[in-house]
Amino acid sequence: MAITTTQAATALHPLDPLTADEIRAAVAVVHASERLGSDALFIRVFLHEPAKSAVLAFRDGDPLDRQAFVLIRDRRARTTCEVIVSISRHAILSWTEVPGVQPPITFDEFLECERMVQGNPEWQAAMKKRGVTDFALAMVDPWSAGYYGQADDPARRLVRALTWIRTDERDNGYARPIEGLVTLVDLDRMEVVEVEDHGAVPLPTHDGNYTAAALANPRNVPYVPAGPRADLRKLDIAQPDGPSFELSGHELTWQKWRLRIGFTPREGLVLHTVGYEDGGRVRPILYRASLAEMVVPYGDPAPTHWRKNAFDEGEYGVGTLANRLELGCDCLGEIRYLDAVVSDTRGEPIVLENAICLHEEDFGILWKHTNFRTGDVEVRRSRRLVISSIATVGNYEYGFFWYLYQDGTIELQIKLTGIVSTGAIAPGAEPEHGVLIAPGLYAPNHQHWFSFRLDMMVDGLENAVYEVNSVSAPLGPSNPHGNAWVNRRTLLARESEAQRLIDPLAGRYWIVTNPTVTNSLGQQVGYKLVPGQNVGALAQPDSSIARRAGFITRHLWVTRYDPAELFAAGDYPNQHPGGAGLPAYVKADRALERTNVVLWYSVGAHHVSRSEEWPVMPVDYAGFQLKPVGFFVGNPALDVPATSHNGHDGAGHCQ
Ligand code: CO
Repeated sequence: MAITTTQAATALHPLDPLTADEIRAAVAVVHASERLGSDALFIRVFLHEPAKSAVLAFRDGDPLDRQAFVLIRDRRARTTCEVIVSISRHAILSWTEVPGVQPPITFDEFLECERMVQGNPEWQAAMKKRGVTDFALAMVDPWSAGYYGQADDPARRLVRALTWIRTDERDNGYARPIEGLVTLVDLDRMEVVEVEDHGAVPLPTHDGNYTAAALANPRNVPYVPAGPRADLRKLDIAQPDGPSFELSGHELTWQKWRLRIGFTPREGLVLHTVGYEDGGRVRPILYRASLAEMVVPYGDPAPTHWRKNAFDEGEYGVGTLANRLELGCDCLGEIRYLDAVVSDTRGEPIVLENAICLHEEDFGILWKHTNFRTGDVEVRRSRRLVISSIATVGNYEYGFFWYLYQDGTIELQIKLTGIVSTGAIAPGAEPEHGVLIAPGLYAPNHQHWFSFRLDMMVDGLENAVYEVNSVSAPLGPSNPHGNAWVNRRTLLARESEAQRLIDPLAGRYWIVTNPTVTNSLGQQVGYKLVPGQNVGALAQPDSSIARRAGFITRHLWVTRYDPAELFAAGDYPNQHPGGAGLPAYVKADRALERTNVVLWYSVGAHHVSRSEEWPVMPVDYAGFQLKPVGFFVGNPALDVPATSHNGHDGAGHCQ
């Protein structure tokens, strides 16, 4: 069963995302100013978040001053403007032209660009050279241009579009890349600037279809689906009494967890004011947790692939591209959904129904012990709360899943799926910088990098960050048998010291403590960031991509809180020459002790493809955890009751 929470007609809390009516009202204020060129695009309209102090001081019923951040591209004037609108007062609070930047590429431009390129004679000539004449079946994906020299200066609004060809409208075109063809497009003028033709490679011979309809009658595929499987029996998740969480507007309560759910067109899901009820009061842990950037560097020097970069968050927007989720498909069980509201380039609100899914999952055992002398068994089942959203960015899907656990753990998991970006290769050739996935078709090597910004608030705003490494003690009087090791805790006292790599061999983690709060054992309360699977960045440090995505050169960065610092590669990564975001934020080398600290964690999902990932990729995972360390004394999940091991009659509890 699923219930979509009806969006409140008016916002109730300063952090509630803008409603459709508020978006309309903000856009109306901008239009009424008559400052807008006739050819302006509304790139983004979203909540201008109030100051942290105002949010923390807010009490239910206090008056709200709702503000919108409106990002505008004037195509004719080639200018980008940030406008802050007071919706409550119908007034423009500021109007700032931002020189030398390119705002993100919009979905409307995707479609407009494809149609325009399909009609371009030079591009058509290149297609004809490859034996393709039905241009309407071409898929032209507007890959962000990157920055590879002065010609990519953000004065012009550029994309390097890549082309694939379908056999019919529903065919998976990624099976047939038009190798060697790169179309440089100016999106402001909506015209082709240059068609680069690096020479034709034969079109791959096989189809790559995966829909149930296509698999029912598979033709011309290199894989053999002998299905559908007939041995899957029904699996029902039943919660006859409803879920154990409560949703009130965007405020979520689940057992002892308290938080607010936000959503922006750029970041998608945002968690606000995450706290845990303990001894009758809510103890804060996180003020704001969000995706701070994404980038997909490709490791192939071939002319069609070397400039693929894609900052999927800052150059496109994972919120704008969020899916409408379906019960029983994306989420299973007793589901509650939240809609998300984004906007198109005219500033019209678009309601993405069911963009955010909330549900509980059984997660195996939570804790267990068998007293082998008495035979007494105590076991508890783990239940986790899942808050998720999935974005489709061109060929890929990215799922962002936040999990809350009963032992105080917070986990972020990215689910990567969809269709790998493909290239064509001459029959019989072996790709040097990728993996053959079908005849004449390969997936170039690449990585997916994500930066998560964790604005910490462990029992308050005065926090400090330590790195902990486990170190073997040298042989000597204090380690006579050579078995001893210690946990060395090092304060990351300044931003210059807080740019770190993972070290799984030393069990490295980072702990955010509150030096002003100790537990009953006399330990500073803390939460630690525990890395999951991760990797190093393989692009050369002086490459364009490493300069533009400086955040991928370190796994952990810590900064002193500044509300203007939200994005790991800067506010406007599209066509940015590099150096923005974290590398710029830490230049001031601010002190980090006993202050509001922000952790930035970079997760690299290393992608050497496999033939099993064609034509659609089984989900791959990446992420990290935040775990309490000394935040509680004793296992915080001791109070989870035993459950019946026979769900039907309630007989026999797991004692
Ligand atoms: Co990939």
